[in-house]
Amino acid sequence: MNKIVGKEYLSDKVVKFEIEAPLIAKSRKAGHFVIVRIGKKGERVPYTIASADPQKGTITLVVQNVGKSSGKFCELNVGDYITDLVGPLGKATHIENFGTVVCAGGGVGIAPMLPIIEAMKKAGNKVIAVLAARTKELVILENEVRQFADEVIIMTDDGSYGKKGLITNGVEEVIQREKVDLCVTIGPAIMMKFVSELTKKYNIQTIASLNTIMVDGTGMCGACRVTVGGKTKFVCVDGPEFDAHQVDFDEMLMRLKAYN
Ligand code: FES
Repeated sequence: MNKIVGKEYLSDKVVKFEIEAPLIAKSRKAGHFVIVRIGKKGERVPYTIASADPQKGTITLVVQNVGKSSGKFCELNVGDYITDLVGPLGKATHIENFGTVVCAGGGVGIAPMLPIIEAMKKAGNKVIAVLAARTKELVILENEVRQFADEVIIMTDDGSYGKKGLITNGVEEVIQREKVDLCVTIGPAIMMKFVSELTKKYNIQTIASLNTIMVDGTGMCGACRVTVGGKTKFVCVDGPEFDAHQVDFDEMLMRLKAYN
Protein backbone atom coordinates (compact mmCIF):
# COMPACT_ATOMS: atom_id res chain seq x y z
CA MET A 1 0.00 0.00 0.00
CA ASN A 2 1.25 3.45 -0.88
CA LYS A 3 0.82 6.29 1.59
CA ILE A 4 -0.23 9.80 0.57
CA VAL A 5 2.28 12.26 2.03
CA GLY A 6 1.19 15.46 0.29
CA LYS A 7 -2.03 16.92 -1.08
CA GLU A 8 -2.52 20.29 -2.74
CA TYR A 9 -5.46 21.71 -4.67
CA LEU A 10 -4.24 23.20 -7.97
CA SER A 11 -7.79 24.30 -8.73
CA ASP A 12 -11.29 23.46 -7.57
CA LYS A 13 -11.27 20.07 -9.22
CA VAL A 14 -7.59 19.35 -9.74
CA VAL A 15 -5.52 17.85 -6.93
CA LYS A 16 -1.77 17.21 -6.77
CA PHE A 17 -0.84 14.18 -4.66
CA GLU A 18 2.60 13.21 -3.43
CA ILE A 19 2.63 9.46 -2.83
CA GLU A 20 5.22 7.12 -1.32
CA ALA A 21 6.44 4.76 -4.05
CA PRO A 22 10.25 4.46 -3.64
CA LEU A 23 10.91 1.89 -6.37
CA ILE A 24 8.82 3.76 -8.95
CA ALA A 25 10.41 7.07 -7.95
CA LYS A 26 13.83 5.57 -8.65
CA SER A 27 13.09 3.98 -12.01
CA ARG A 28 10.49 6.21 -13.67
CA LYS A 29 11.30 8.28 -16.73
CA ALA A 30 9.38 11.05 -18.52
CA GLY A 31 6.31 9.58 -20.18
CA HIS A 32 5.82 6.67 -17.77
CA PHE A 33 2.48 6.19 -16.06
CA VAL A 34 0.99 4.21 -13.18
CA ILE A 35 -2.38 2.52 -12.76
CA VAL A 36 -4.18 3.31 -9.53
CA ARG A 37 -7.09 1.59 -7.84
CA ILE A 38 -8.97 3.20 -4.96
CA GLY A 39 -10.97 0.66 -2.93
CA LYS A 40 -11.11 -3.12 -3.42
CA LYS A 41 -13.77 -2.84 -6.14
CA GLY A 42 -12.36 0.35 -7.60
CA GLU A 43 -11.82 0.97 -11.28
CA ARG A 44 -8.22 0.85 -12.52
CA VAL A 45 -7.28 4.30 -13.79
CA PRO A 46 -4.00 5.37 -15.46
CA TYR A 47 -2.19 8.54 -14.36
CA THR A 48 1.03 9.80 -15.86
CA ILE A 49 3.75 10.50 -13.31
CA ALA A 50 4.12 14.30 -13.18
CA SER A 51 7.35 14.24 -11.16
CA ALA A 52 9.30 12.11 -8.70
CA ASP A 53 11.73 12.56 -5.85
CA PRO A 54 14.02 9.51 -5.68
CA GLN A 55 15.62 10.75 -2.43
CA LYS A 56 12.27 11.02 -0.65
CA GLY A 57 10.94 7.99 -2.49
CA THR A 58 7.80 9.77 -3.70
CA ILE A 59 5.99 10.33 -6.97
CA THR A 60 3.57 13.12 -7.87
CA LEU A 61 0.26 12.50 -9.60
CA VAL A 62 -2.21 15.17 -10.69
CA VAL A 63 -5.83 14.06 -10.52
CA GLN A 64 -8.77 15.85 -12.08
CA ASN A 65 -12.08 15.11 -10.40
CA VAL A 66 -14.21 14.15 -13.39
CA GLY A 67 -16.16 11.10 -12.21
CA LYS A 68 -16.64 8.40 -9.60
CA SER A 69 -13.11 6.98 -9.46
CA SER A 70 -11.24 10.27 -9.68
CA GLY A 71 -13.74 11.69 -7.16
CA LYS A 72 -12.91 8.94 -4.66
CA PHE A 73 -9.20 9.58 -5.25
CA CYS A 74 -9.60 13.33 -4.60
CA GLU A 75 -11.36 12.62 -1.29
CA LEU A 76 -8.22 10.94 0.09
CA ASN A 77 -6.00 12.93 2.43
CA VAL A 78 -2.45 12.96 3.72
CA GLY A 79 -1.93 9.77 5.78
CA ASP A 80 -4.41 7.72 3.71
CA TYR A 81 -3.28 4.79 1.59
CA ILE A 82 -3.87 3.98 -2.09
CA THR A 83 -5.36 0.47 -2.41
CA ASP A 84 -2.93 -0.38 -5.17
CA LEU A 85 -0.59 1.37 -7.50
CA VAL A 86 1.26 -0.36 -10.36
CA GLY A 87 4.09 1.06 -12.40
CA PRO A 88 6.06 2.51 -13.98
CA LEU A 89 4.14 1.42 -17.11
CA GLY A 90 4.40 2.30 -20.80
CA LYS A 91 7.36 3.39 -22.84
CA ALA A 92 9.39 6.40 -21.77
CA THR A 93 9.39 9.48 -23.98
CA HIS A 94 12.08 9.48 -26.66
CA ILE A 95 14.33 12.33 -25.55
CA GLU A 96 17.13 13.79 -27.65
CA ASN A 97 18.32 17.16 -28.87
CA PHE A 98 15.79 17.87 -31.63
CA GLY A 99 16.39 21.63 -31.70
CA THR A 100 13.23 23.61 -30.96
CA VAL A 101 10.44 21.68 -29.28
CA VAL A 102 6.92 23.01 -28.77
CA CYS A 103 5.16 21.32 -25.85
CA ALA A 104 1.41 21.87 -26.18
CA GLY A 105 -0.41 20.85 -23.00
CA GLY A 106 -4.11 21.32 -22.42
CA GLY A 107 -5.94 21.27 -19.06
CA VAL A 108 -4.80 18.46 -16.81
CA GLY A 109 -2.52 17.31 -19.67
CA ILE A 110 -0.09 19.98 -18.47
CA ALA A 111 0.85 17.63 -15.59
CA PRO A 112 2.20 14.76 -17.72
CA MET A 113 3.85 17.37 -19.96
CA LEU A 114 5.96 18.71 -17.08
CA PRO A 115 8.54 15.85 -16.96
CA ILE A 116 8.82 15.96 -20.76
CA ILE A 117 9.53 19.71 -20.71
CA GLU A 118 12.20 19.12 -18.05
CA ALA A 119 13.81 16.21 -19.93
CA MET A 120 13.72 18.01 -23.31
CA LYS A 121 15.36 21.07 -21.75
CA LYS A 122 18.07 18.97 -20.06
CA ALA A 123 18.78 17.33 -23.45
CA GLY A 124 19.64 20.77 -24.85
CA ASN A 125 16.45 21.68 -26.70
CA LYS A 126 14.90 25.10 -26.85
CA VAL A 127 11.54 24.38 -25.24
CA ILE A 128 8.47 26.51 -25.87
CA ALA A 129 5.50 25.51 -23.73
CA VAL A 130 2.01 26.36 -24.90
CA LEU A 131 -0.37 25.81 -22.00
CA ALA A 132 -4.10 26.00 -22.58
CA ALA A 133 -7.22 25.78 -20.45
CA ARG A 134 -10.82 26.89 -20.49
CA THR A 135 -10.21 29.56 -17.87
CA LYS A 136 -7.47 31.01 -15.63
CA GLU A 137 -8.10 28.70 -12.63
CA LEU A 138 -7.51 25.64 -14.80
CA VAL A 139 -4.02 26.66 -15.91
CA ILE A 140 -2.02 24.38 -13.61
CA LEU A 141 1.69 24.03 -12.74
CA GLU A 142 2.66 27.23 -14.54
CA ASN A 143 5.52 28.01 -12.13
CA GLU A 144 6.91 24.49 -12.40
CA VAL A 145 6.81 24.69 -16.22
CA ARG A 146 8.56 28.09 -16.13
CA GLN A 147 11.49 26.51 -14.27
CA PHE A 148 12.43 24.55 -17.40
CA ALA A 149 10.79 26.08 -20.47
CA ASP A 150 12.54 28.86 -22.41
CA GLU A 151 9.19 30.46 -23.12
CA VAL A 152 5.66 29.91 -21.88
CA ILE A 153 2.59 30.94 -23.89
CA ILE A 154 -0.72 30.72 -22.08
CA MET A 155 -4.01 30.43 -23.91
CA THR A 156 -7.46 30.50 -22.32
CA ASP A 157 -10.79 29.97 -24.06
CA ASP A 158 -12.36 32.93 -22.25
CA GLY A 159 -9.31 35.21 -22.28
CA SER A 160 -9.22 35.38 -18.45
CA TYR A 161 -5.44 34.73 -18.49
CA GLY A 162 -2.72 34.88 -21.13
CA LYS A 163 -4.12 35.21 -24.62
CA LYS A 164 -7.70 34.47 -25.64
CA GLY A 165 -7.88 31.55 -28.03
CA LEU A 166 -7.30 27.87 -28.51
CA ILE A 167 -4.08 25.95 -28.05
CA THR A 168 -3.76 25.72 -31.83
CA ASN A 169 -3.62 29.53 -32.03
CA GLY A 170 -0.66 29.54 -29.64
CA VAL A 171 1.14 26.74 -31.49
CA GLU A 172 0.58 28.36 -34.88
CA GLU A 173 1.94 31.67 -33.59
CA VAL A 174 5.22 29.91 -32.77
CA ILE A 175 5.32 27.99 -36.06
CA GLN A 176 4.88 31.20 -38.04
CA ARG A 177 7.61 32.92 -36.07
CA GLU A 178 10.33 30.30 -36.03
CA LYS A 179 11.40 26.85 -37.14
CA VAL A 180 9.91 24.12 -34.96
CA ASP A 181 11.57 20.70 -35.06
CA LEU A 182 9.16 18.73 -32.88
CA CYS A 183 5.78 19.21 -31.26
CA VAL A 184 4.60 17.17 -28.27
CA THR A 185 0.95 17.37 -27.35
CA ILE A 186 -0.94 16.08 -24.31
CA GLY A 187 -4.50 16.89 -23.36
CA PRO A 188 -8.08 16.02 -24.28
CA ALA A 189 -8.25 13.79 -27.39
CA ILE A 190 -10.10 16.42 -29.41
CA MET A 191 -7.41 18.98 -28.61
CA MET A 192 -4.62 16.63 -29.68
CA LYS A 193 -6.50 15.90 -32.89
CA PHE A 194 -6.56 19.59 -33.81
CA VAL A 195 -2.93 20.18 -32.81
CA SER A 196 -1.99 17.20 -34.94
CA GLU A 197 -3.96 18.50 -37.94
CA LEU A 198 -2.23 21.87 -37.60
CA THR A 199 1.31 20.51 -37.42
CA LYS A 200 0.62 18.09 -40.28
CA LYS A 201 -0.16 21.11 -42.43
CA TYR A 202 3.30 22.48 -41.62
CA ASN A 203 4.98 19.07 -41.82
CA ILE A 204 6.26 19.17 -38.23
CA GLN A 205 6.92 15.85 -36.52
CA THR A 206 4.41 15.52 -33.67
CA ILE A 207 4.09 13.17 -30.72
CA ALA A 208 0.78 12.73 -28.87
CA SER A 209 0.47 11.03 -25.49
CA LEU A 210 -2.82 9.16 -25.63
CA ASN A 211 -5.19 8.85 -22.71
CA THR A 212 -7.44 5.91 -23.53
CA ILE A 213 -9.48 3.81 -21.13
CA MET A 214 -7.23 1.16 -19.54
CA VAL A 215 -7.84 -1.93 -17.45
CA ASP A 216 -4.79 -4.15 -16.93
CA GLY A 217 -2.12 -1.84 -18.34
CA THR A 218 -0.04 -4.80 -19.50
CA GLY A 219 -1.30 -5.46 -23.02
CA MET A 220 -3.78 -8.23 -22.23
CA CYS A 221 -7.31 -6.77 -22.11
CA GLY A 222 -7.37 -4.68 -25.29
CA ALA A 223 -9.32 -1.83 -23.65
CA CYS A 224 -6.71 0.71 -24.66
CA ARG A 225 -6.41 -0.23 -28.32
CA VAL A 226 -6.05 2.48 -30.93
CA THR A 227 -5.32 2.51 -34.64
CA VAL A 228 -1.98 4.05 -35.57
CA GLY A 229 -0.88 4.04 -39.19
CA GLY A 230 -3.64 1.53 -39.97
CA LYS A 231 -2.38 -0.95 -37.35
CA THR A 232 -3.88 -1.81 -33.96
CA LYS A 233 -1.69 -0.67 -31.08
CA PHE A 234 -2.10 -0.93 -27.32
CA VAL A 235 -1.54 2.40 -25.60
CA CYS A 236 -0.39 0.74 -22.37
CA VAL A 237 2.51 -1.23 -23.84
CA ASP A 238 3.14 0.30 -27.29
CA GLY A 239 2.62 3.86 -26.02
CA PRO A 240 1.35 6.04 -24.50
CA GLU A 241 3.18 8.21 -27.06
CA PHE A 242 2.67 7.83 -30.79
CA ASP A 243 3.28 9.69 -34.03
CA ALA A 244 0.23 11.99 -33.84
CA HIS A 245 -0.10 12.21 -37.62
CA GLN A 246 -0.69 8.44 -37.78
CA VAL A 247 -3.28 8.24 -34.97
CA ASP A 248 -6.93 7.67 -35.88
CA PHE A 249 -8.27 10.27 -33.43
CA ASP A 250 -11.89 9.93 -34.63
CA GLU A 251 -11.92 6.25 -33.72
CA MET A 252 -10.22 7.00 -30.40
CA LEU A 253 -12.82 9.69 -29.59
CA MET A 254 -15.61 7.23 -30.34
CA ARG A 255 -14.06 4.54 -28.12
CA LEU A 256 -13.56 7.01 -25.26
CA LYS A 257 -17.35 7.49 -25.21
CA ALA A 258 -17.92 3.75 -24.74
CA TYR A 259 -19.07 4.09 -21.13
CA ASN A 260 -21.15 7.24 -21.50
FE1 FES B 1 -5.37 -3.62 -21.28
FE2 FES B 1 -3.81 -1.90 -22.54
S1 FES B 1 -4.96 -1.56 -20.78
S2 FES B 1 -4.29 -3.93 -23.13
